[in-house]
Amino acid sequence: MNPEQPPSSLSPLLASRRSPWSFDTDAEVGDRALAAVLEAARWSASSGNTQPWRFLVGRRGDAVFEKIYGTLRPRNRTWAGGAGVLLLTVYDLGGDRPLRHAQYDVGQAVAHLSIQAGHEGLVVHQMAGFDPDAAREAFGIPAGFVPCTVVALGHLGDPGSLPEDLAARQARPRTRRPLAETAFTEWGVPLDLDRPPG
Ligand SMILES: Cc1cc2nc3c(=O)[nH]c(=O)nc-3n(C[C@H](O)[C@H](O)[C@H](O)COP(=O)(O)O)c2cc1C
Repeated sequence: MNPEQPPSSLSPLLASRRSPWSFDTDAEVGDRALAAVLEAARWSASSGNTQPWRFLVGRRGDAVFEKIYGTLRPRNRTWAGGAGVLLLTVYDLGGDRPLRHAQYDVGQAVAHLSIQAGHEGLVVHQMAGFDPDAAREAFGIPAGFVPCTVVALGHLGDPGSLPEDLAARQARPRTRRPLAETAFTEWGVPLDLDRPPG
């Protein structure tokens, strides 16, 4: 995969979104911005409008943040403590009427949250690297609900504050599989698009 920039056709909020590791530990996430990103998630689409997502929200320095932080894999602990907010995302399995798309829906809600975060001047870094059983235990999450991801939210910080390997990763150009290997007309047959470069 070749390193590349997102094309200029992307909305600036989408083009500038990325998952940085460095957070500004001096800057707090204000109530207004936090409410805005949570509203963005709340107003995203879901299968049958079932809204299977739930969020446990911790702010740096409070007990909820510490509990979420305590479930992270060691690698993620090296940087995620700098975020202003840690969110534990959870989805509802739906009980007697299973929600087959619950995981899809929670992902989409977080995608909306991430774009709203960009609008608020904030950055987001999602994590699968946490212990869902520990999260269930820490928050008494009932059967029928599943801890899904942890989301770090905050202000972008100086990469100089990161461990060397993460600073190098953050500086590295991003890569994506080409569109021709992603969008097909028949399986494996690329969609033929006439489009200007960039
Ligand atoms: C569901 C999910 C889980 C992820 N888990 C981790 C993680 O545990 N630790 C980490 O550093 N990054 C994690 N990431 C970030 C991805 O590595 C990142 O989104 C990907 O490399 C693309 O980079 P970009 O978001 O900057 O475009 C995760 C992203 C998603 C969507």
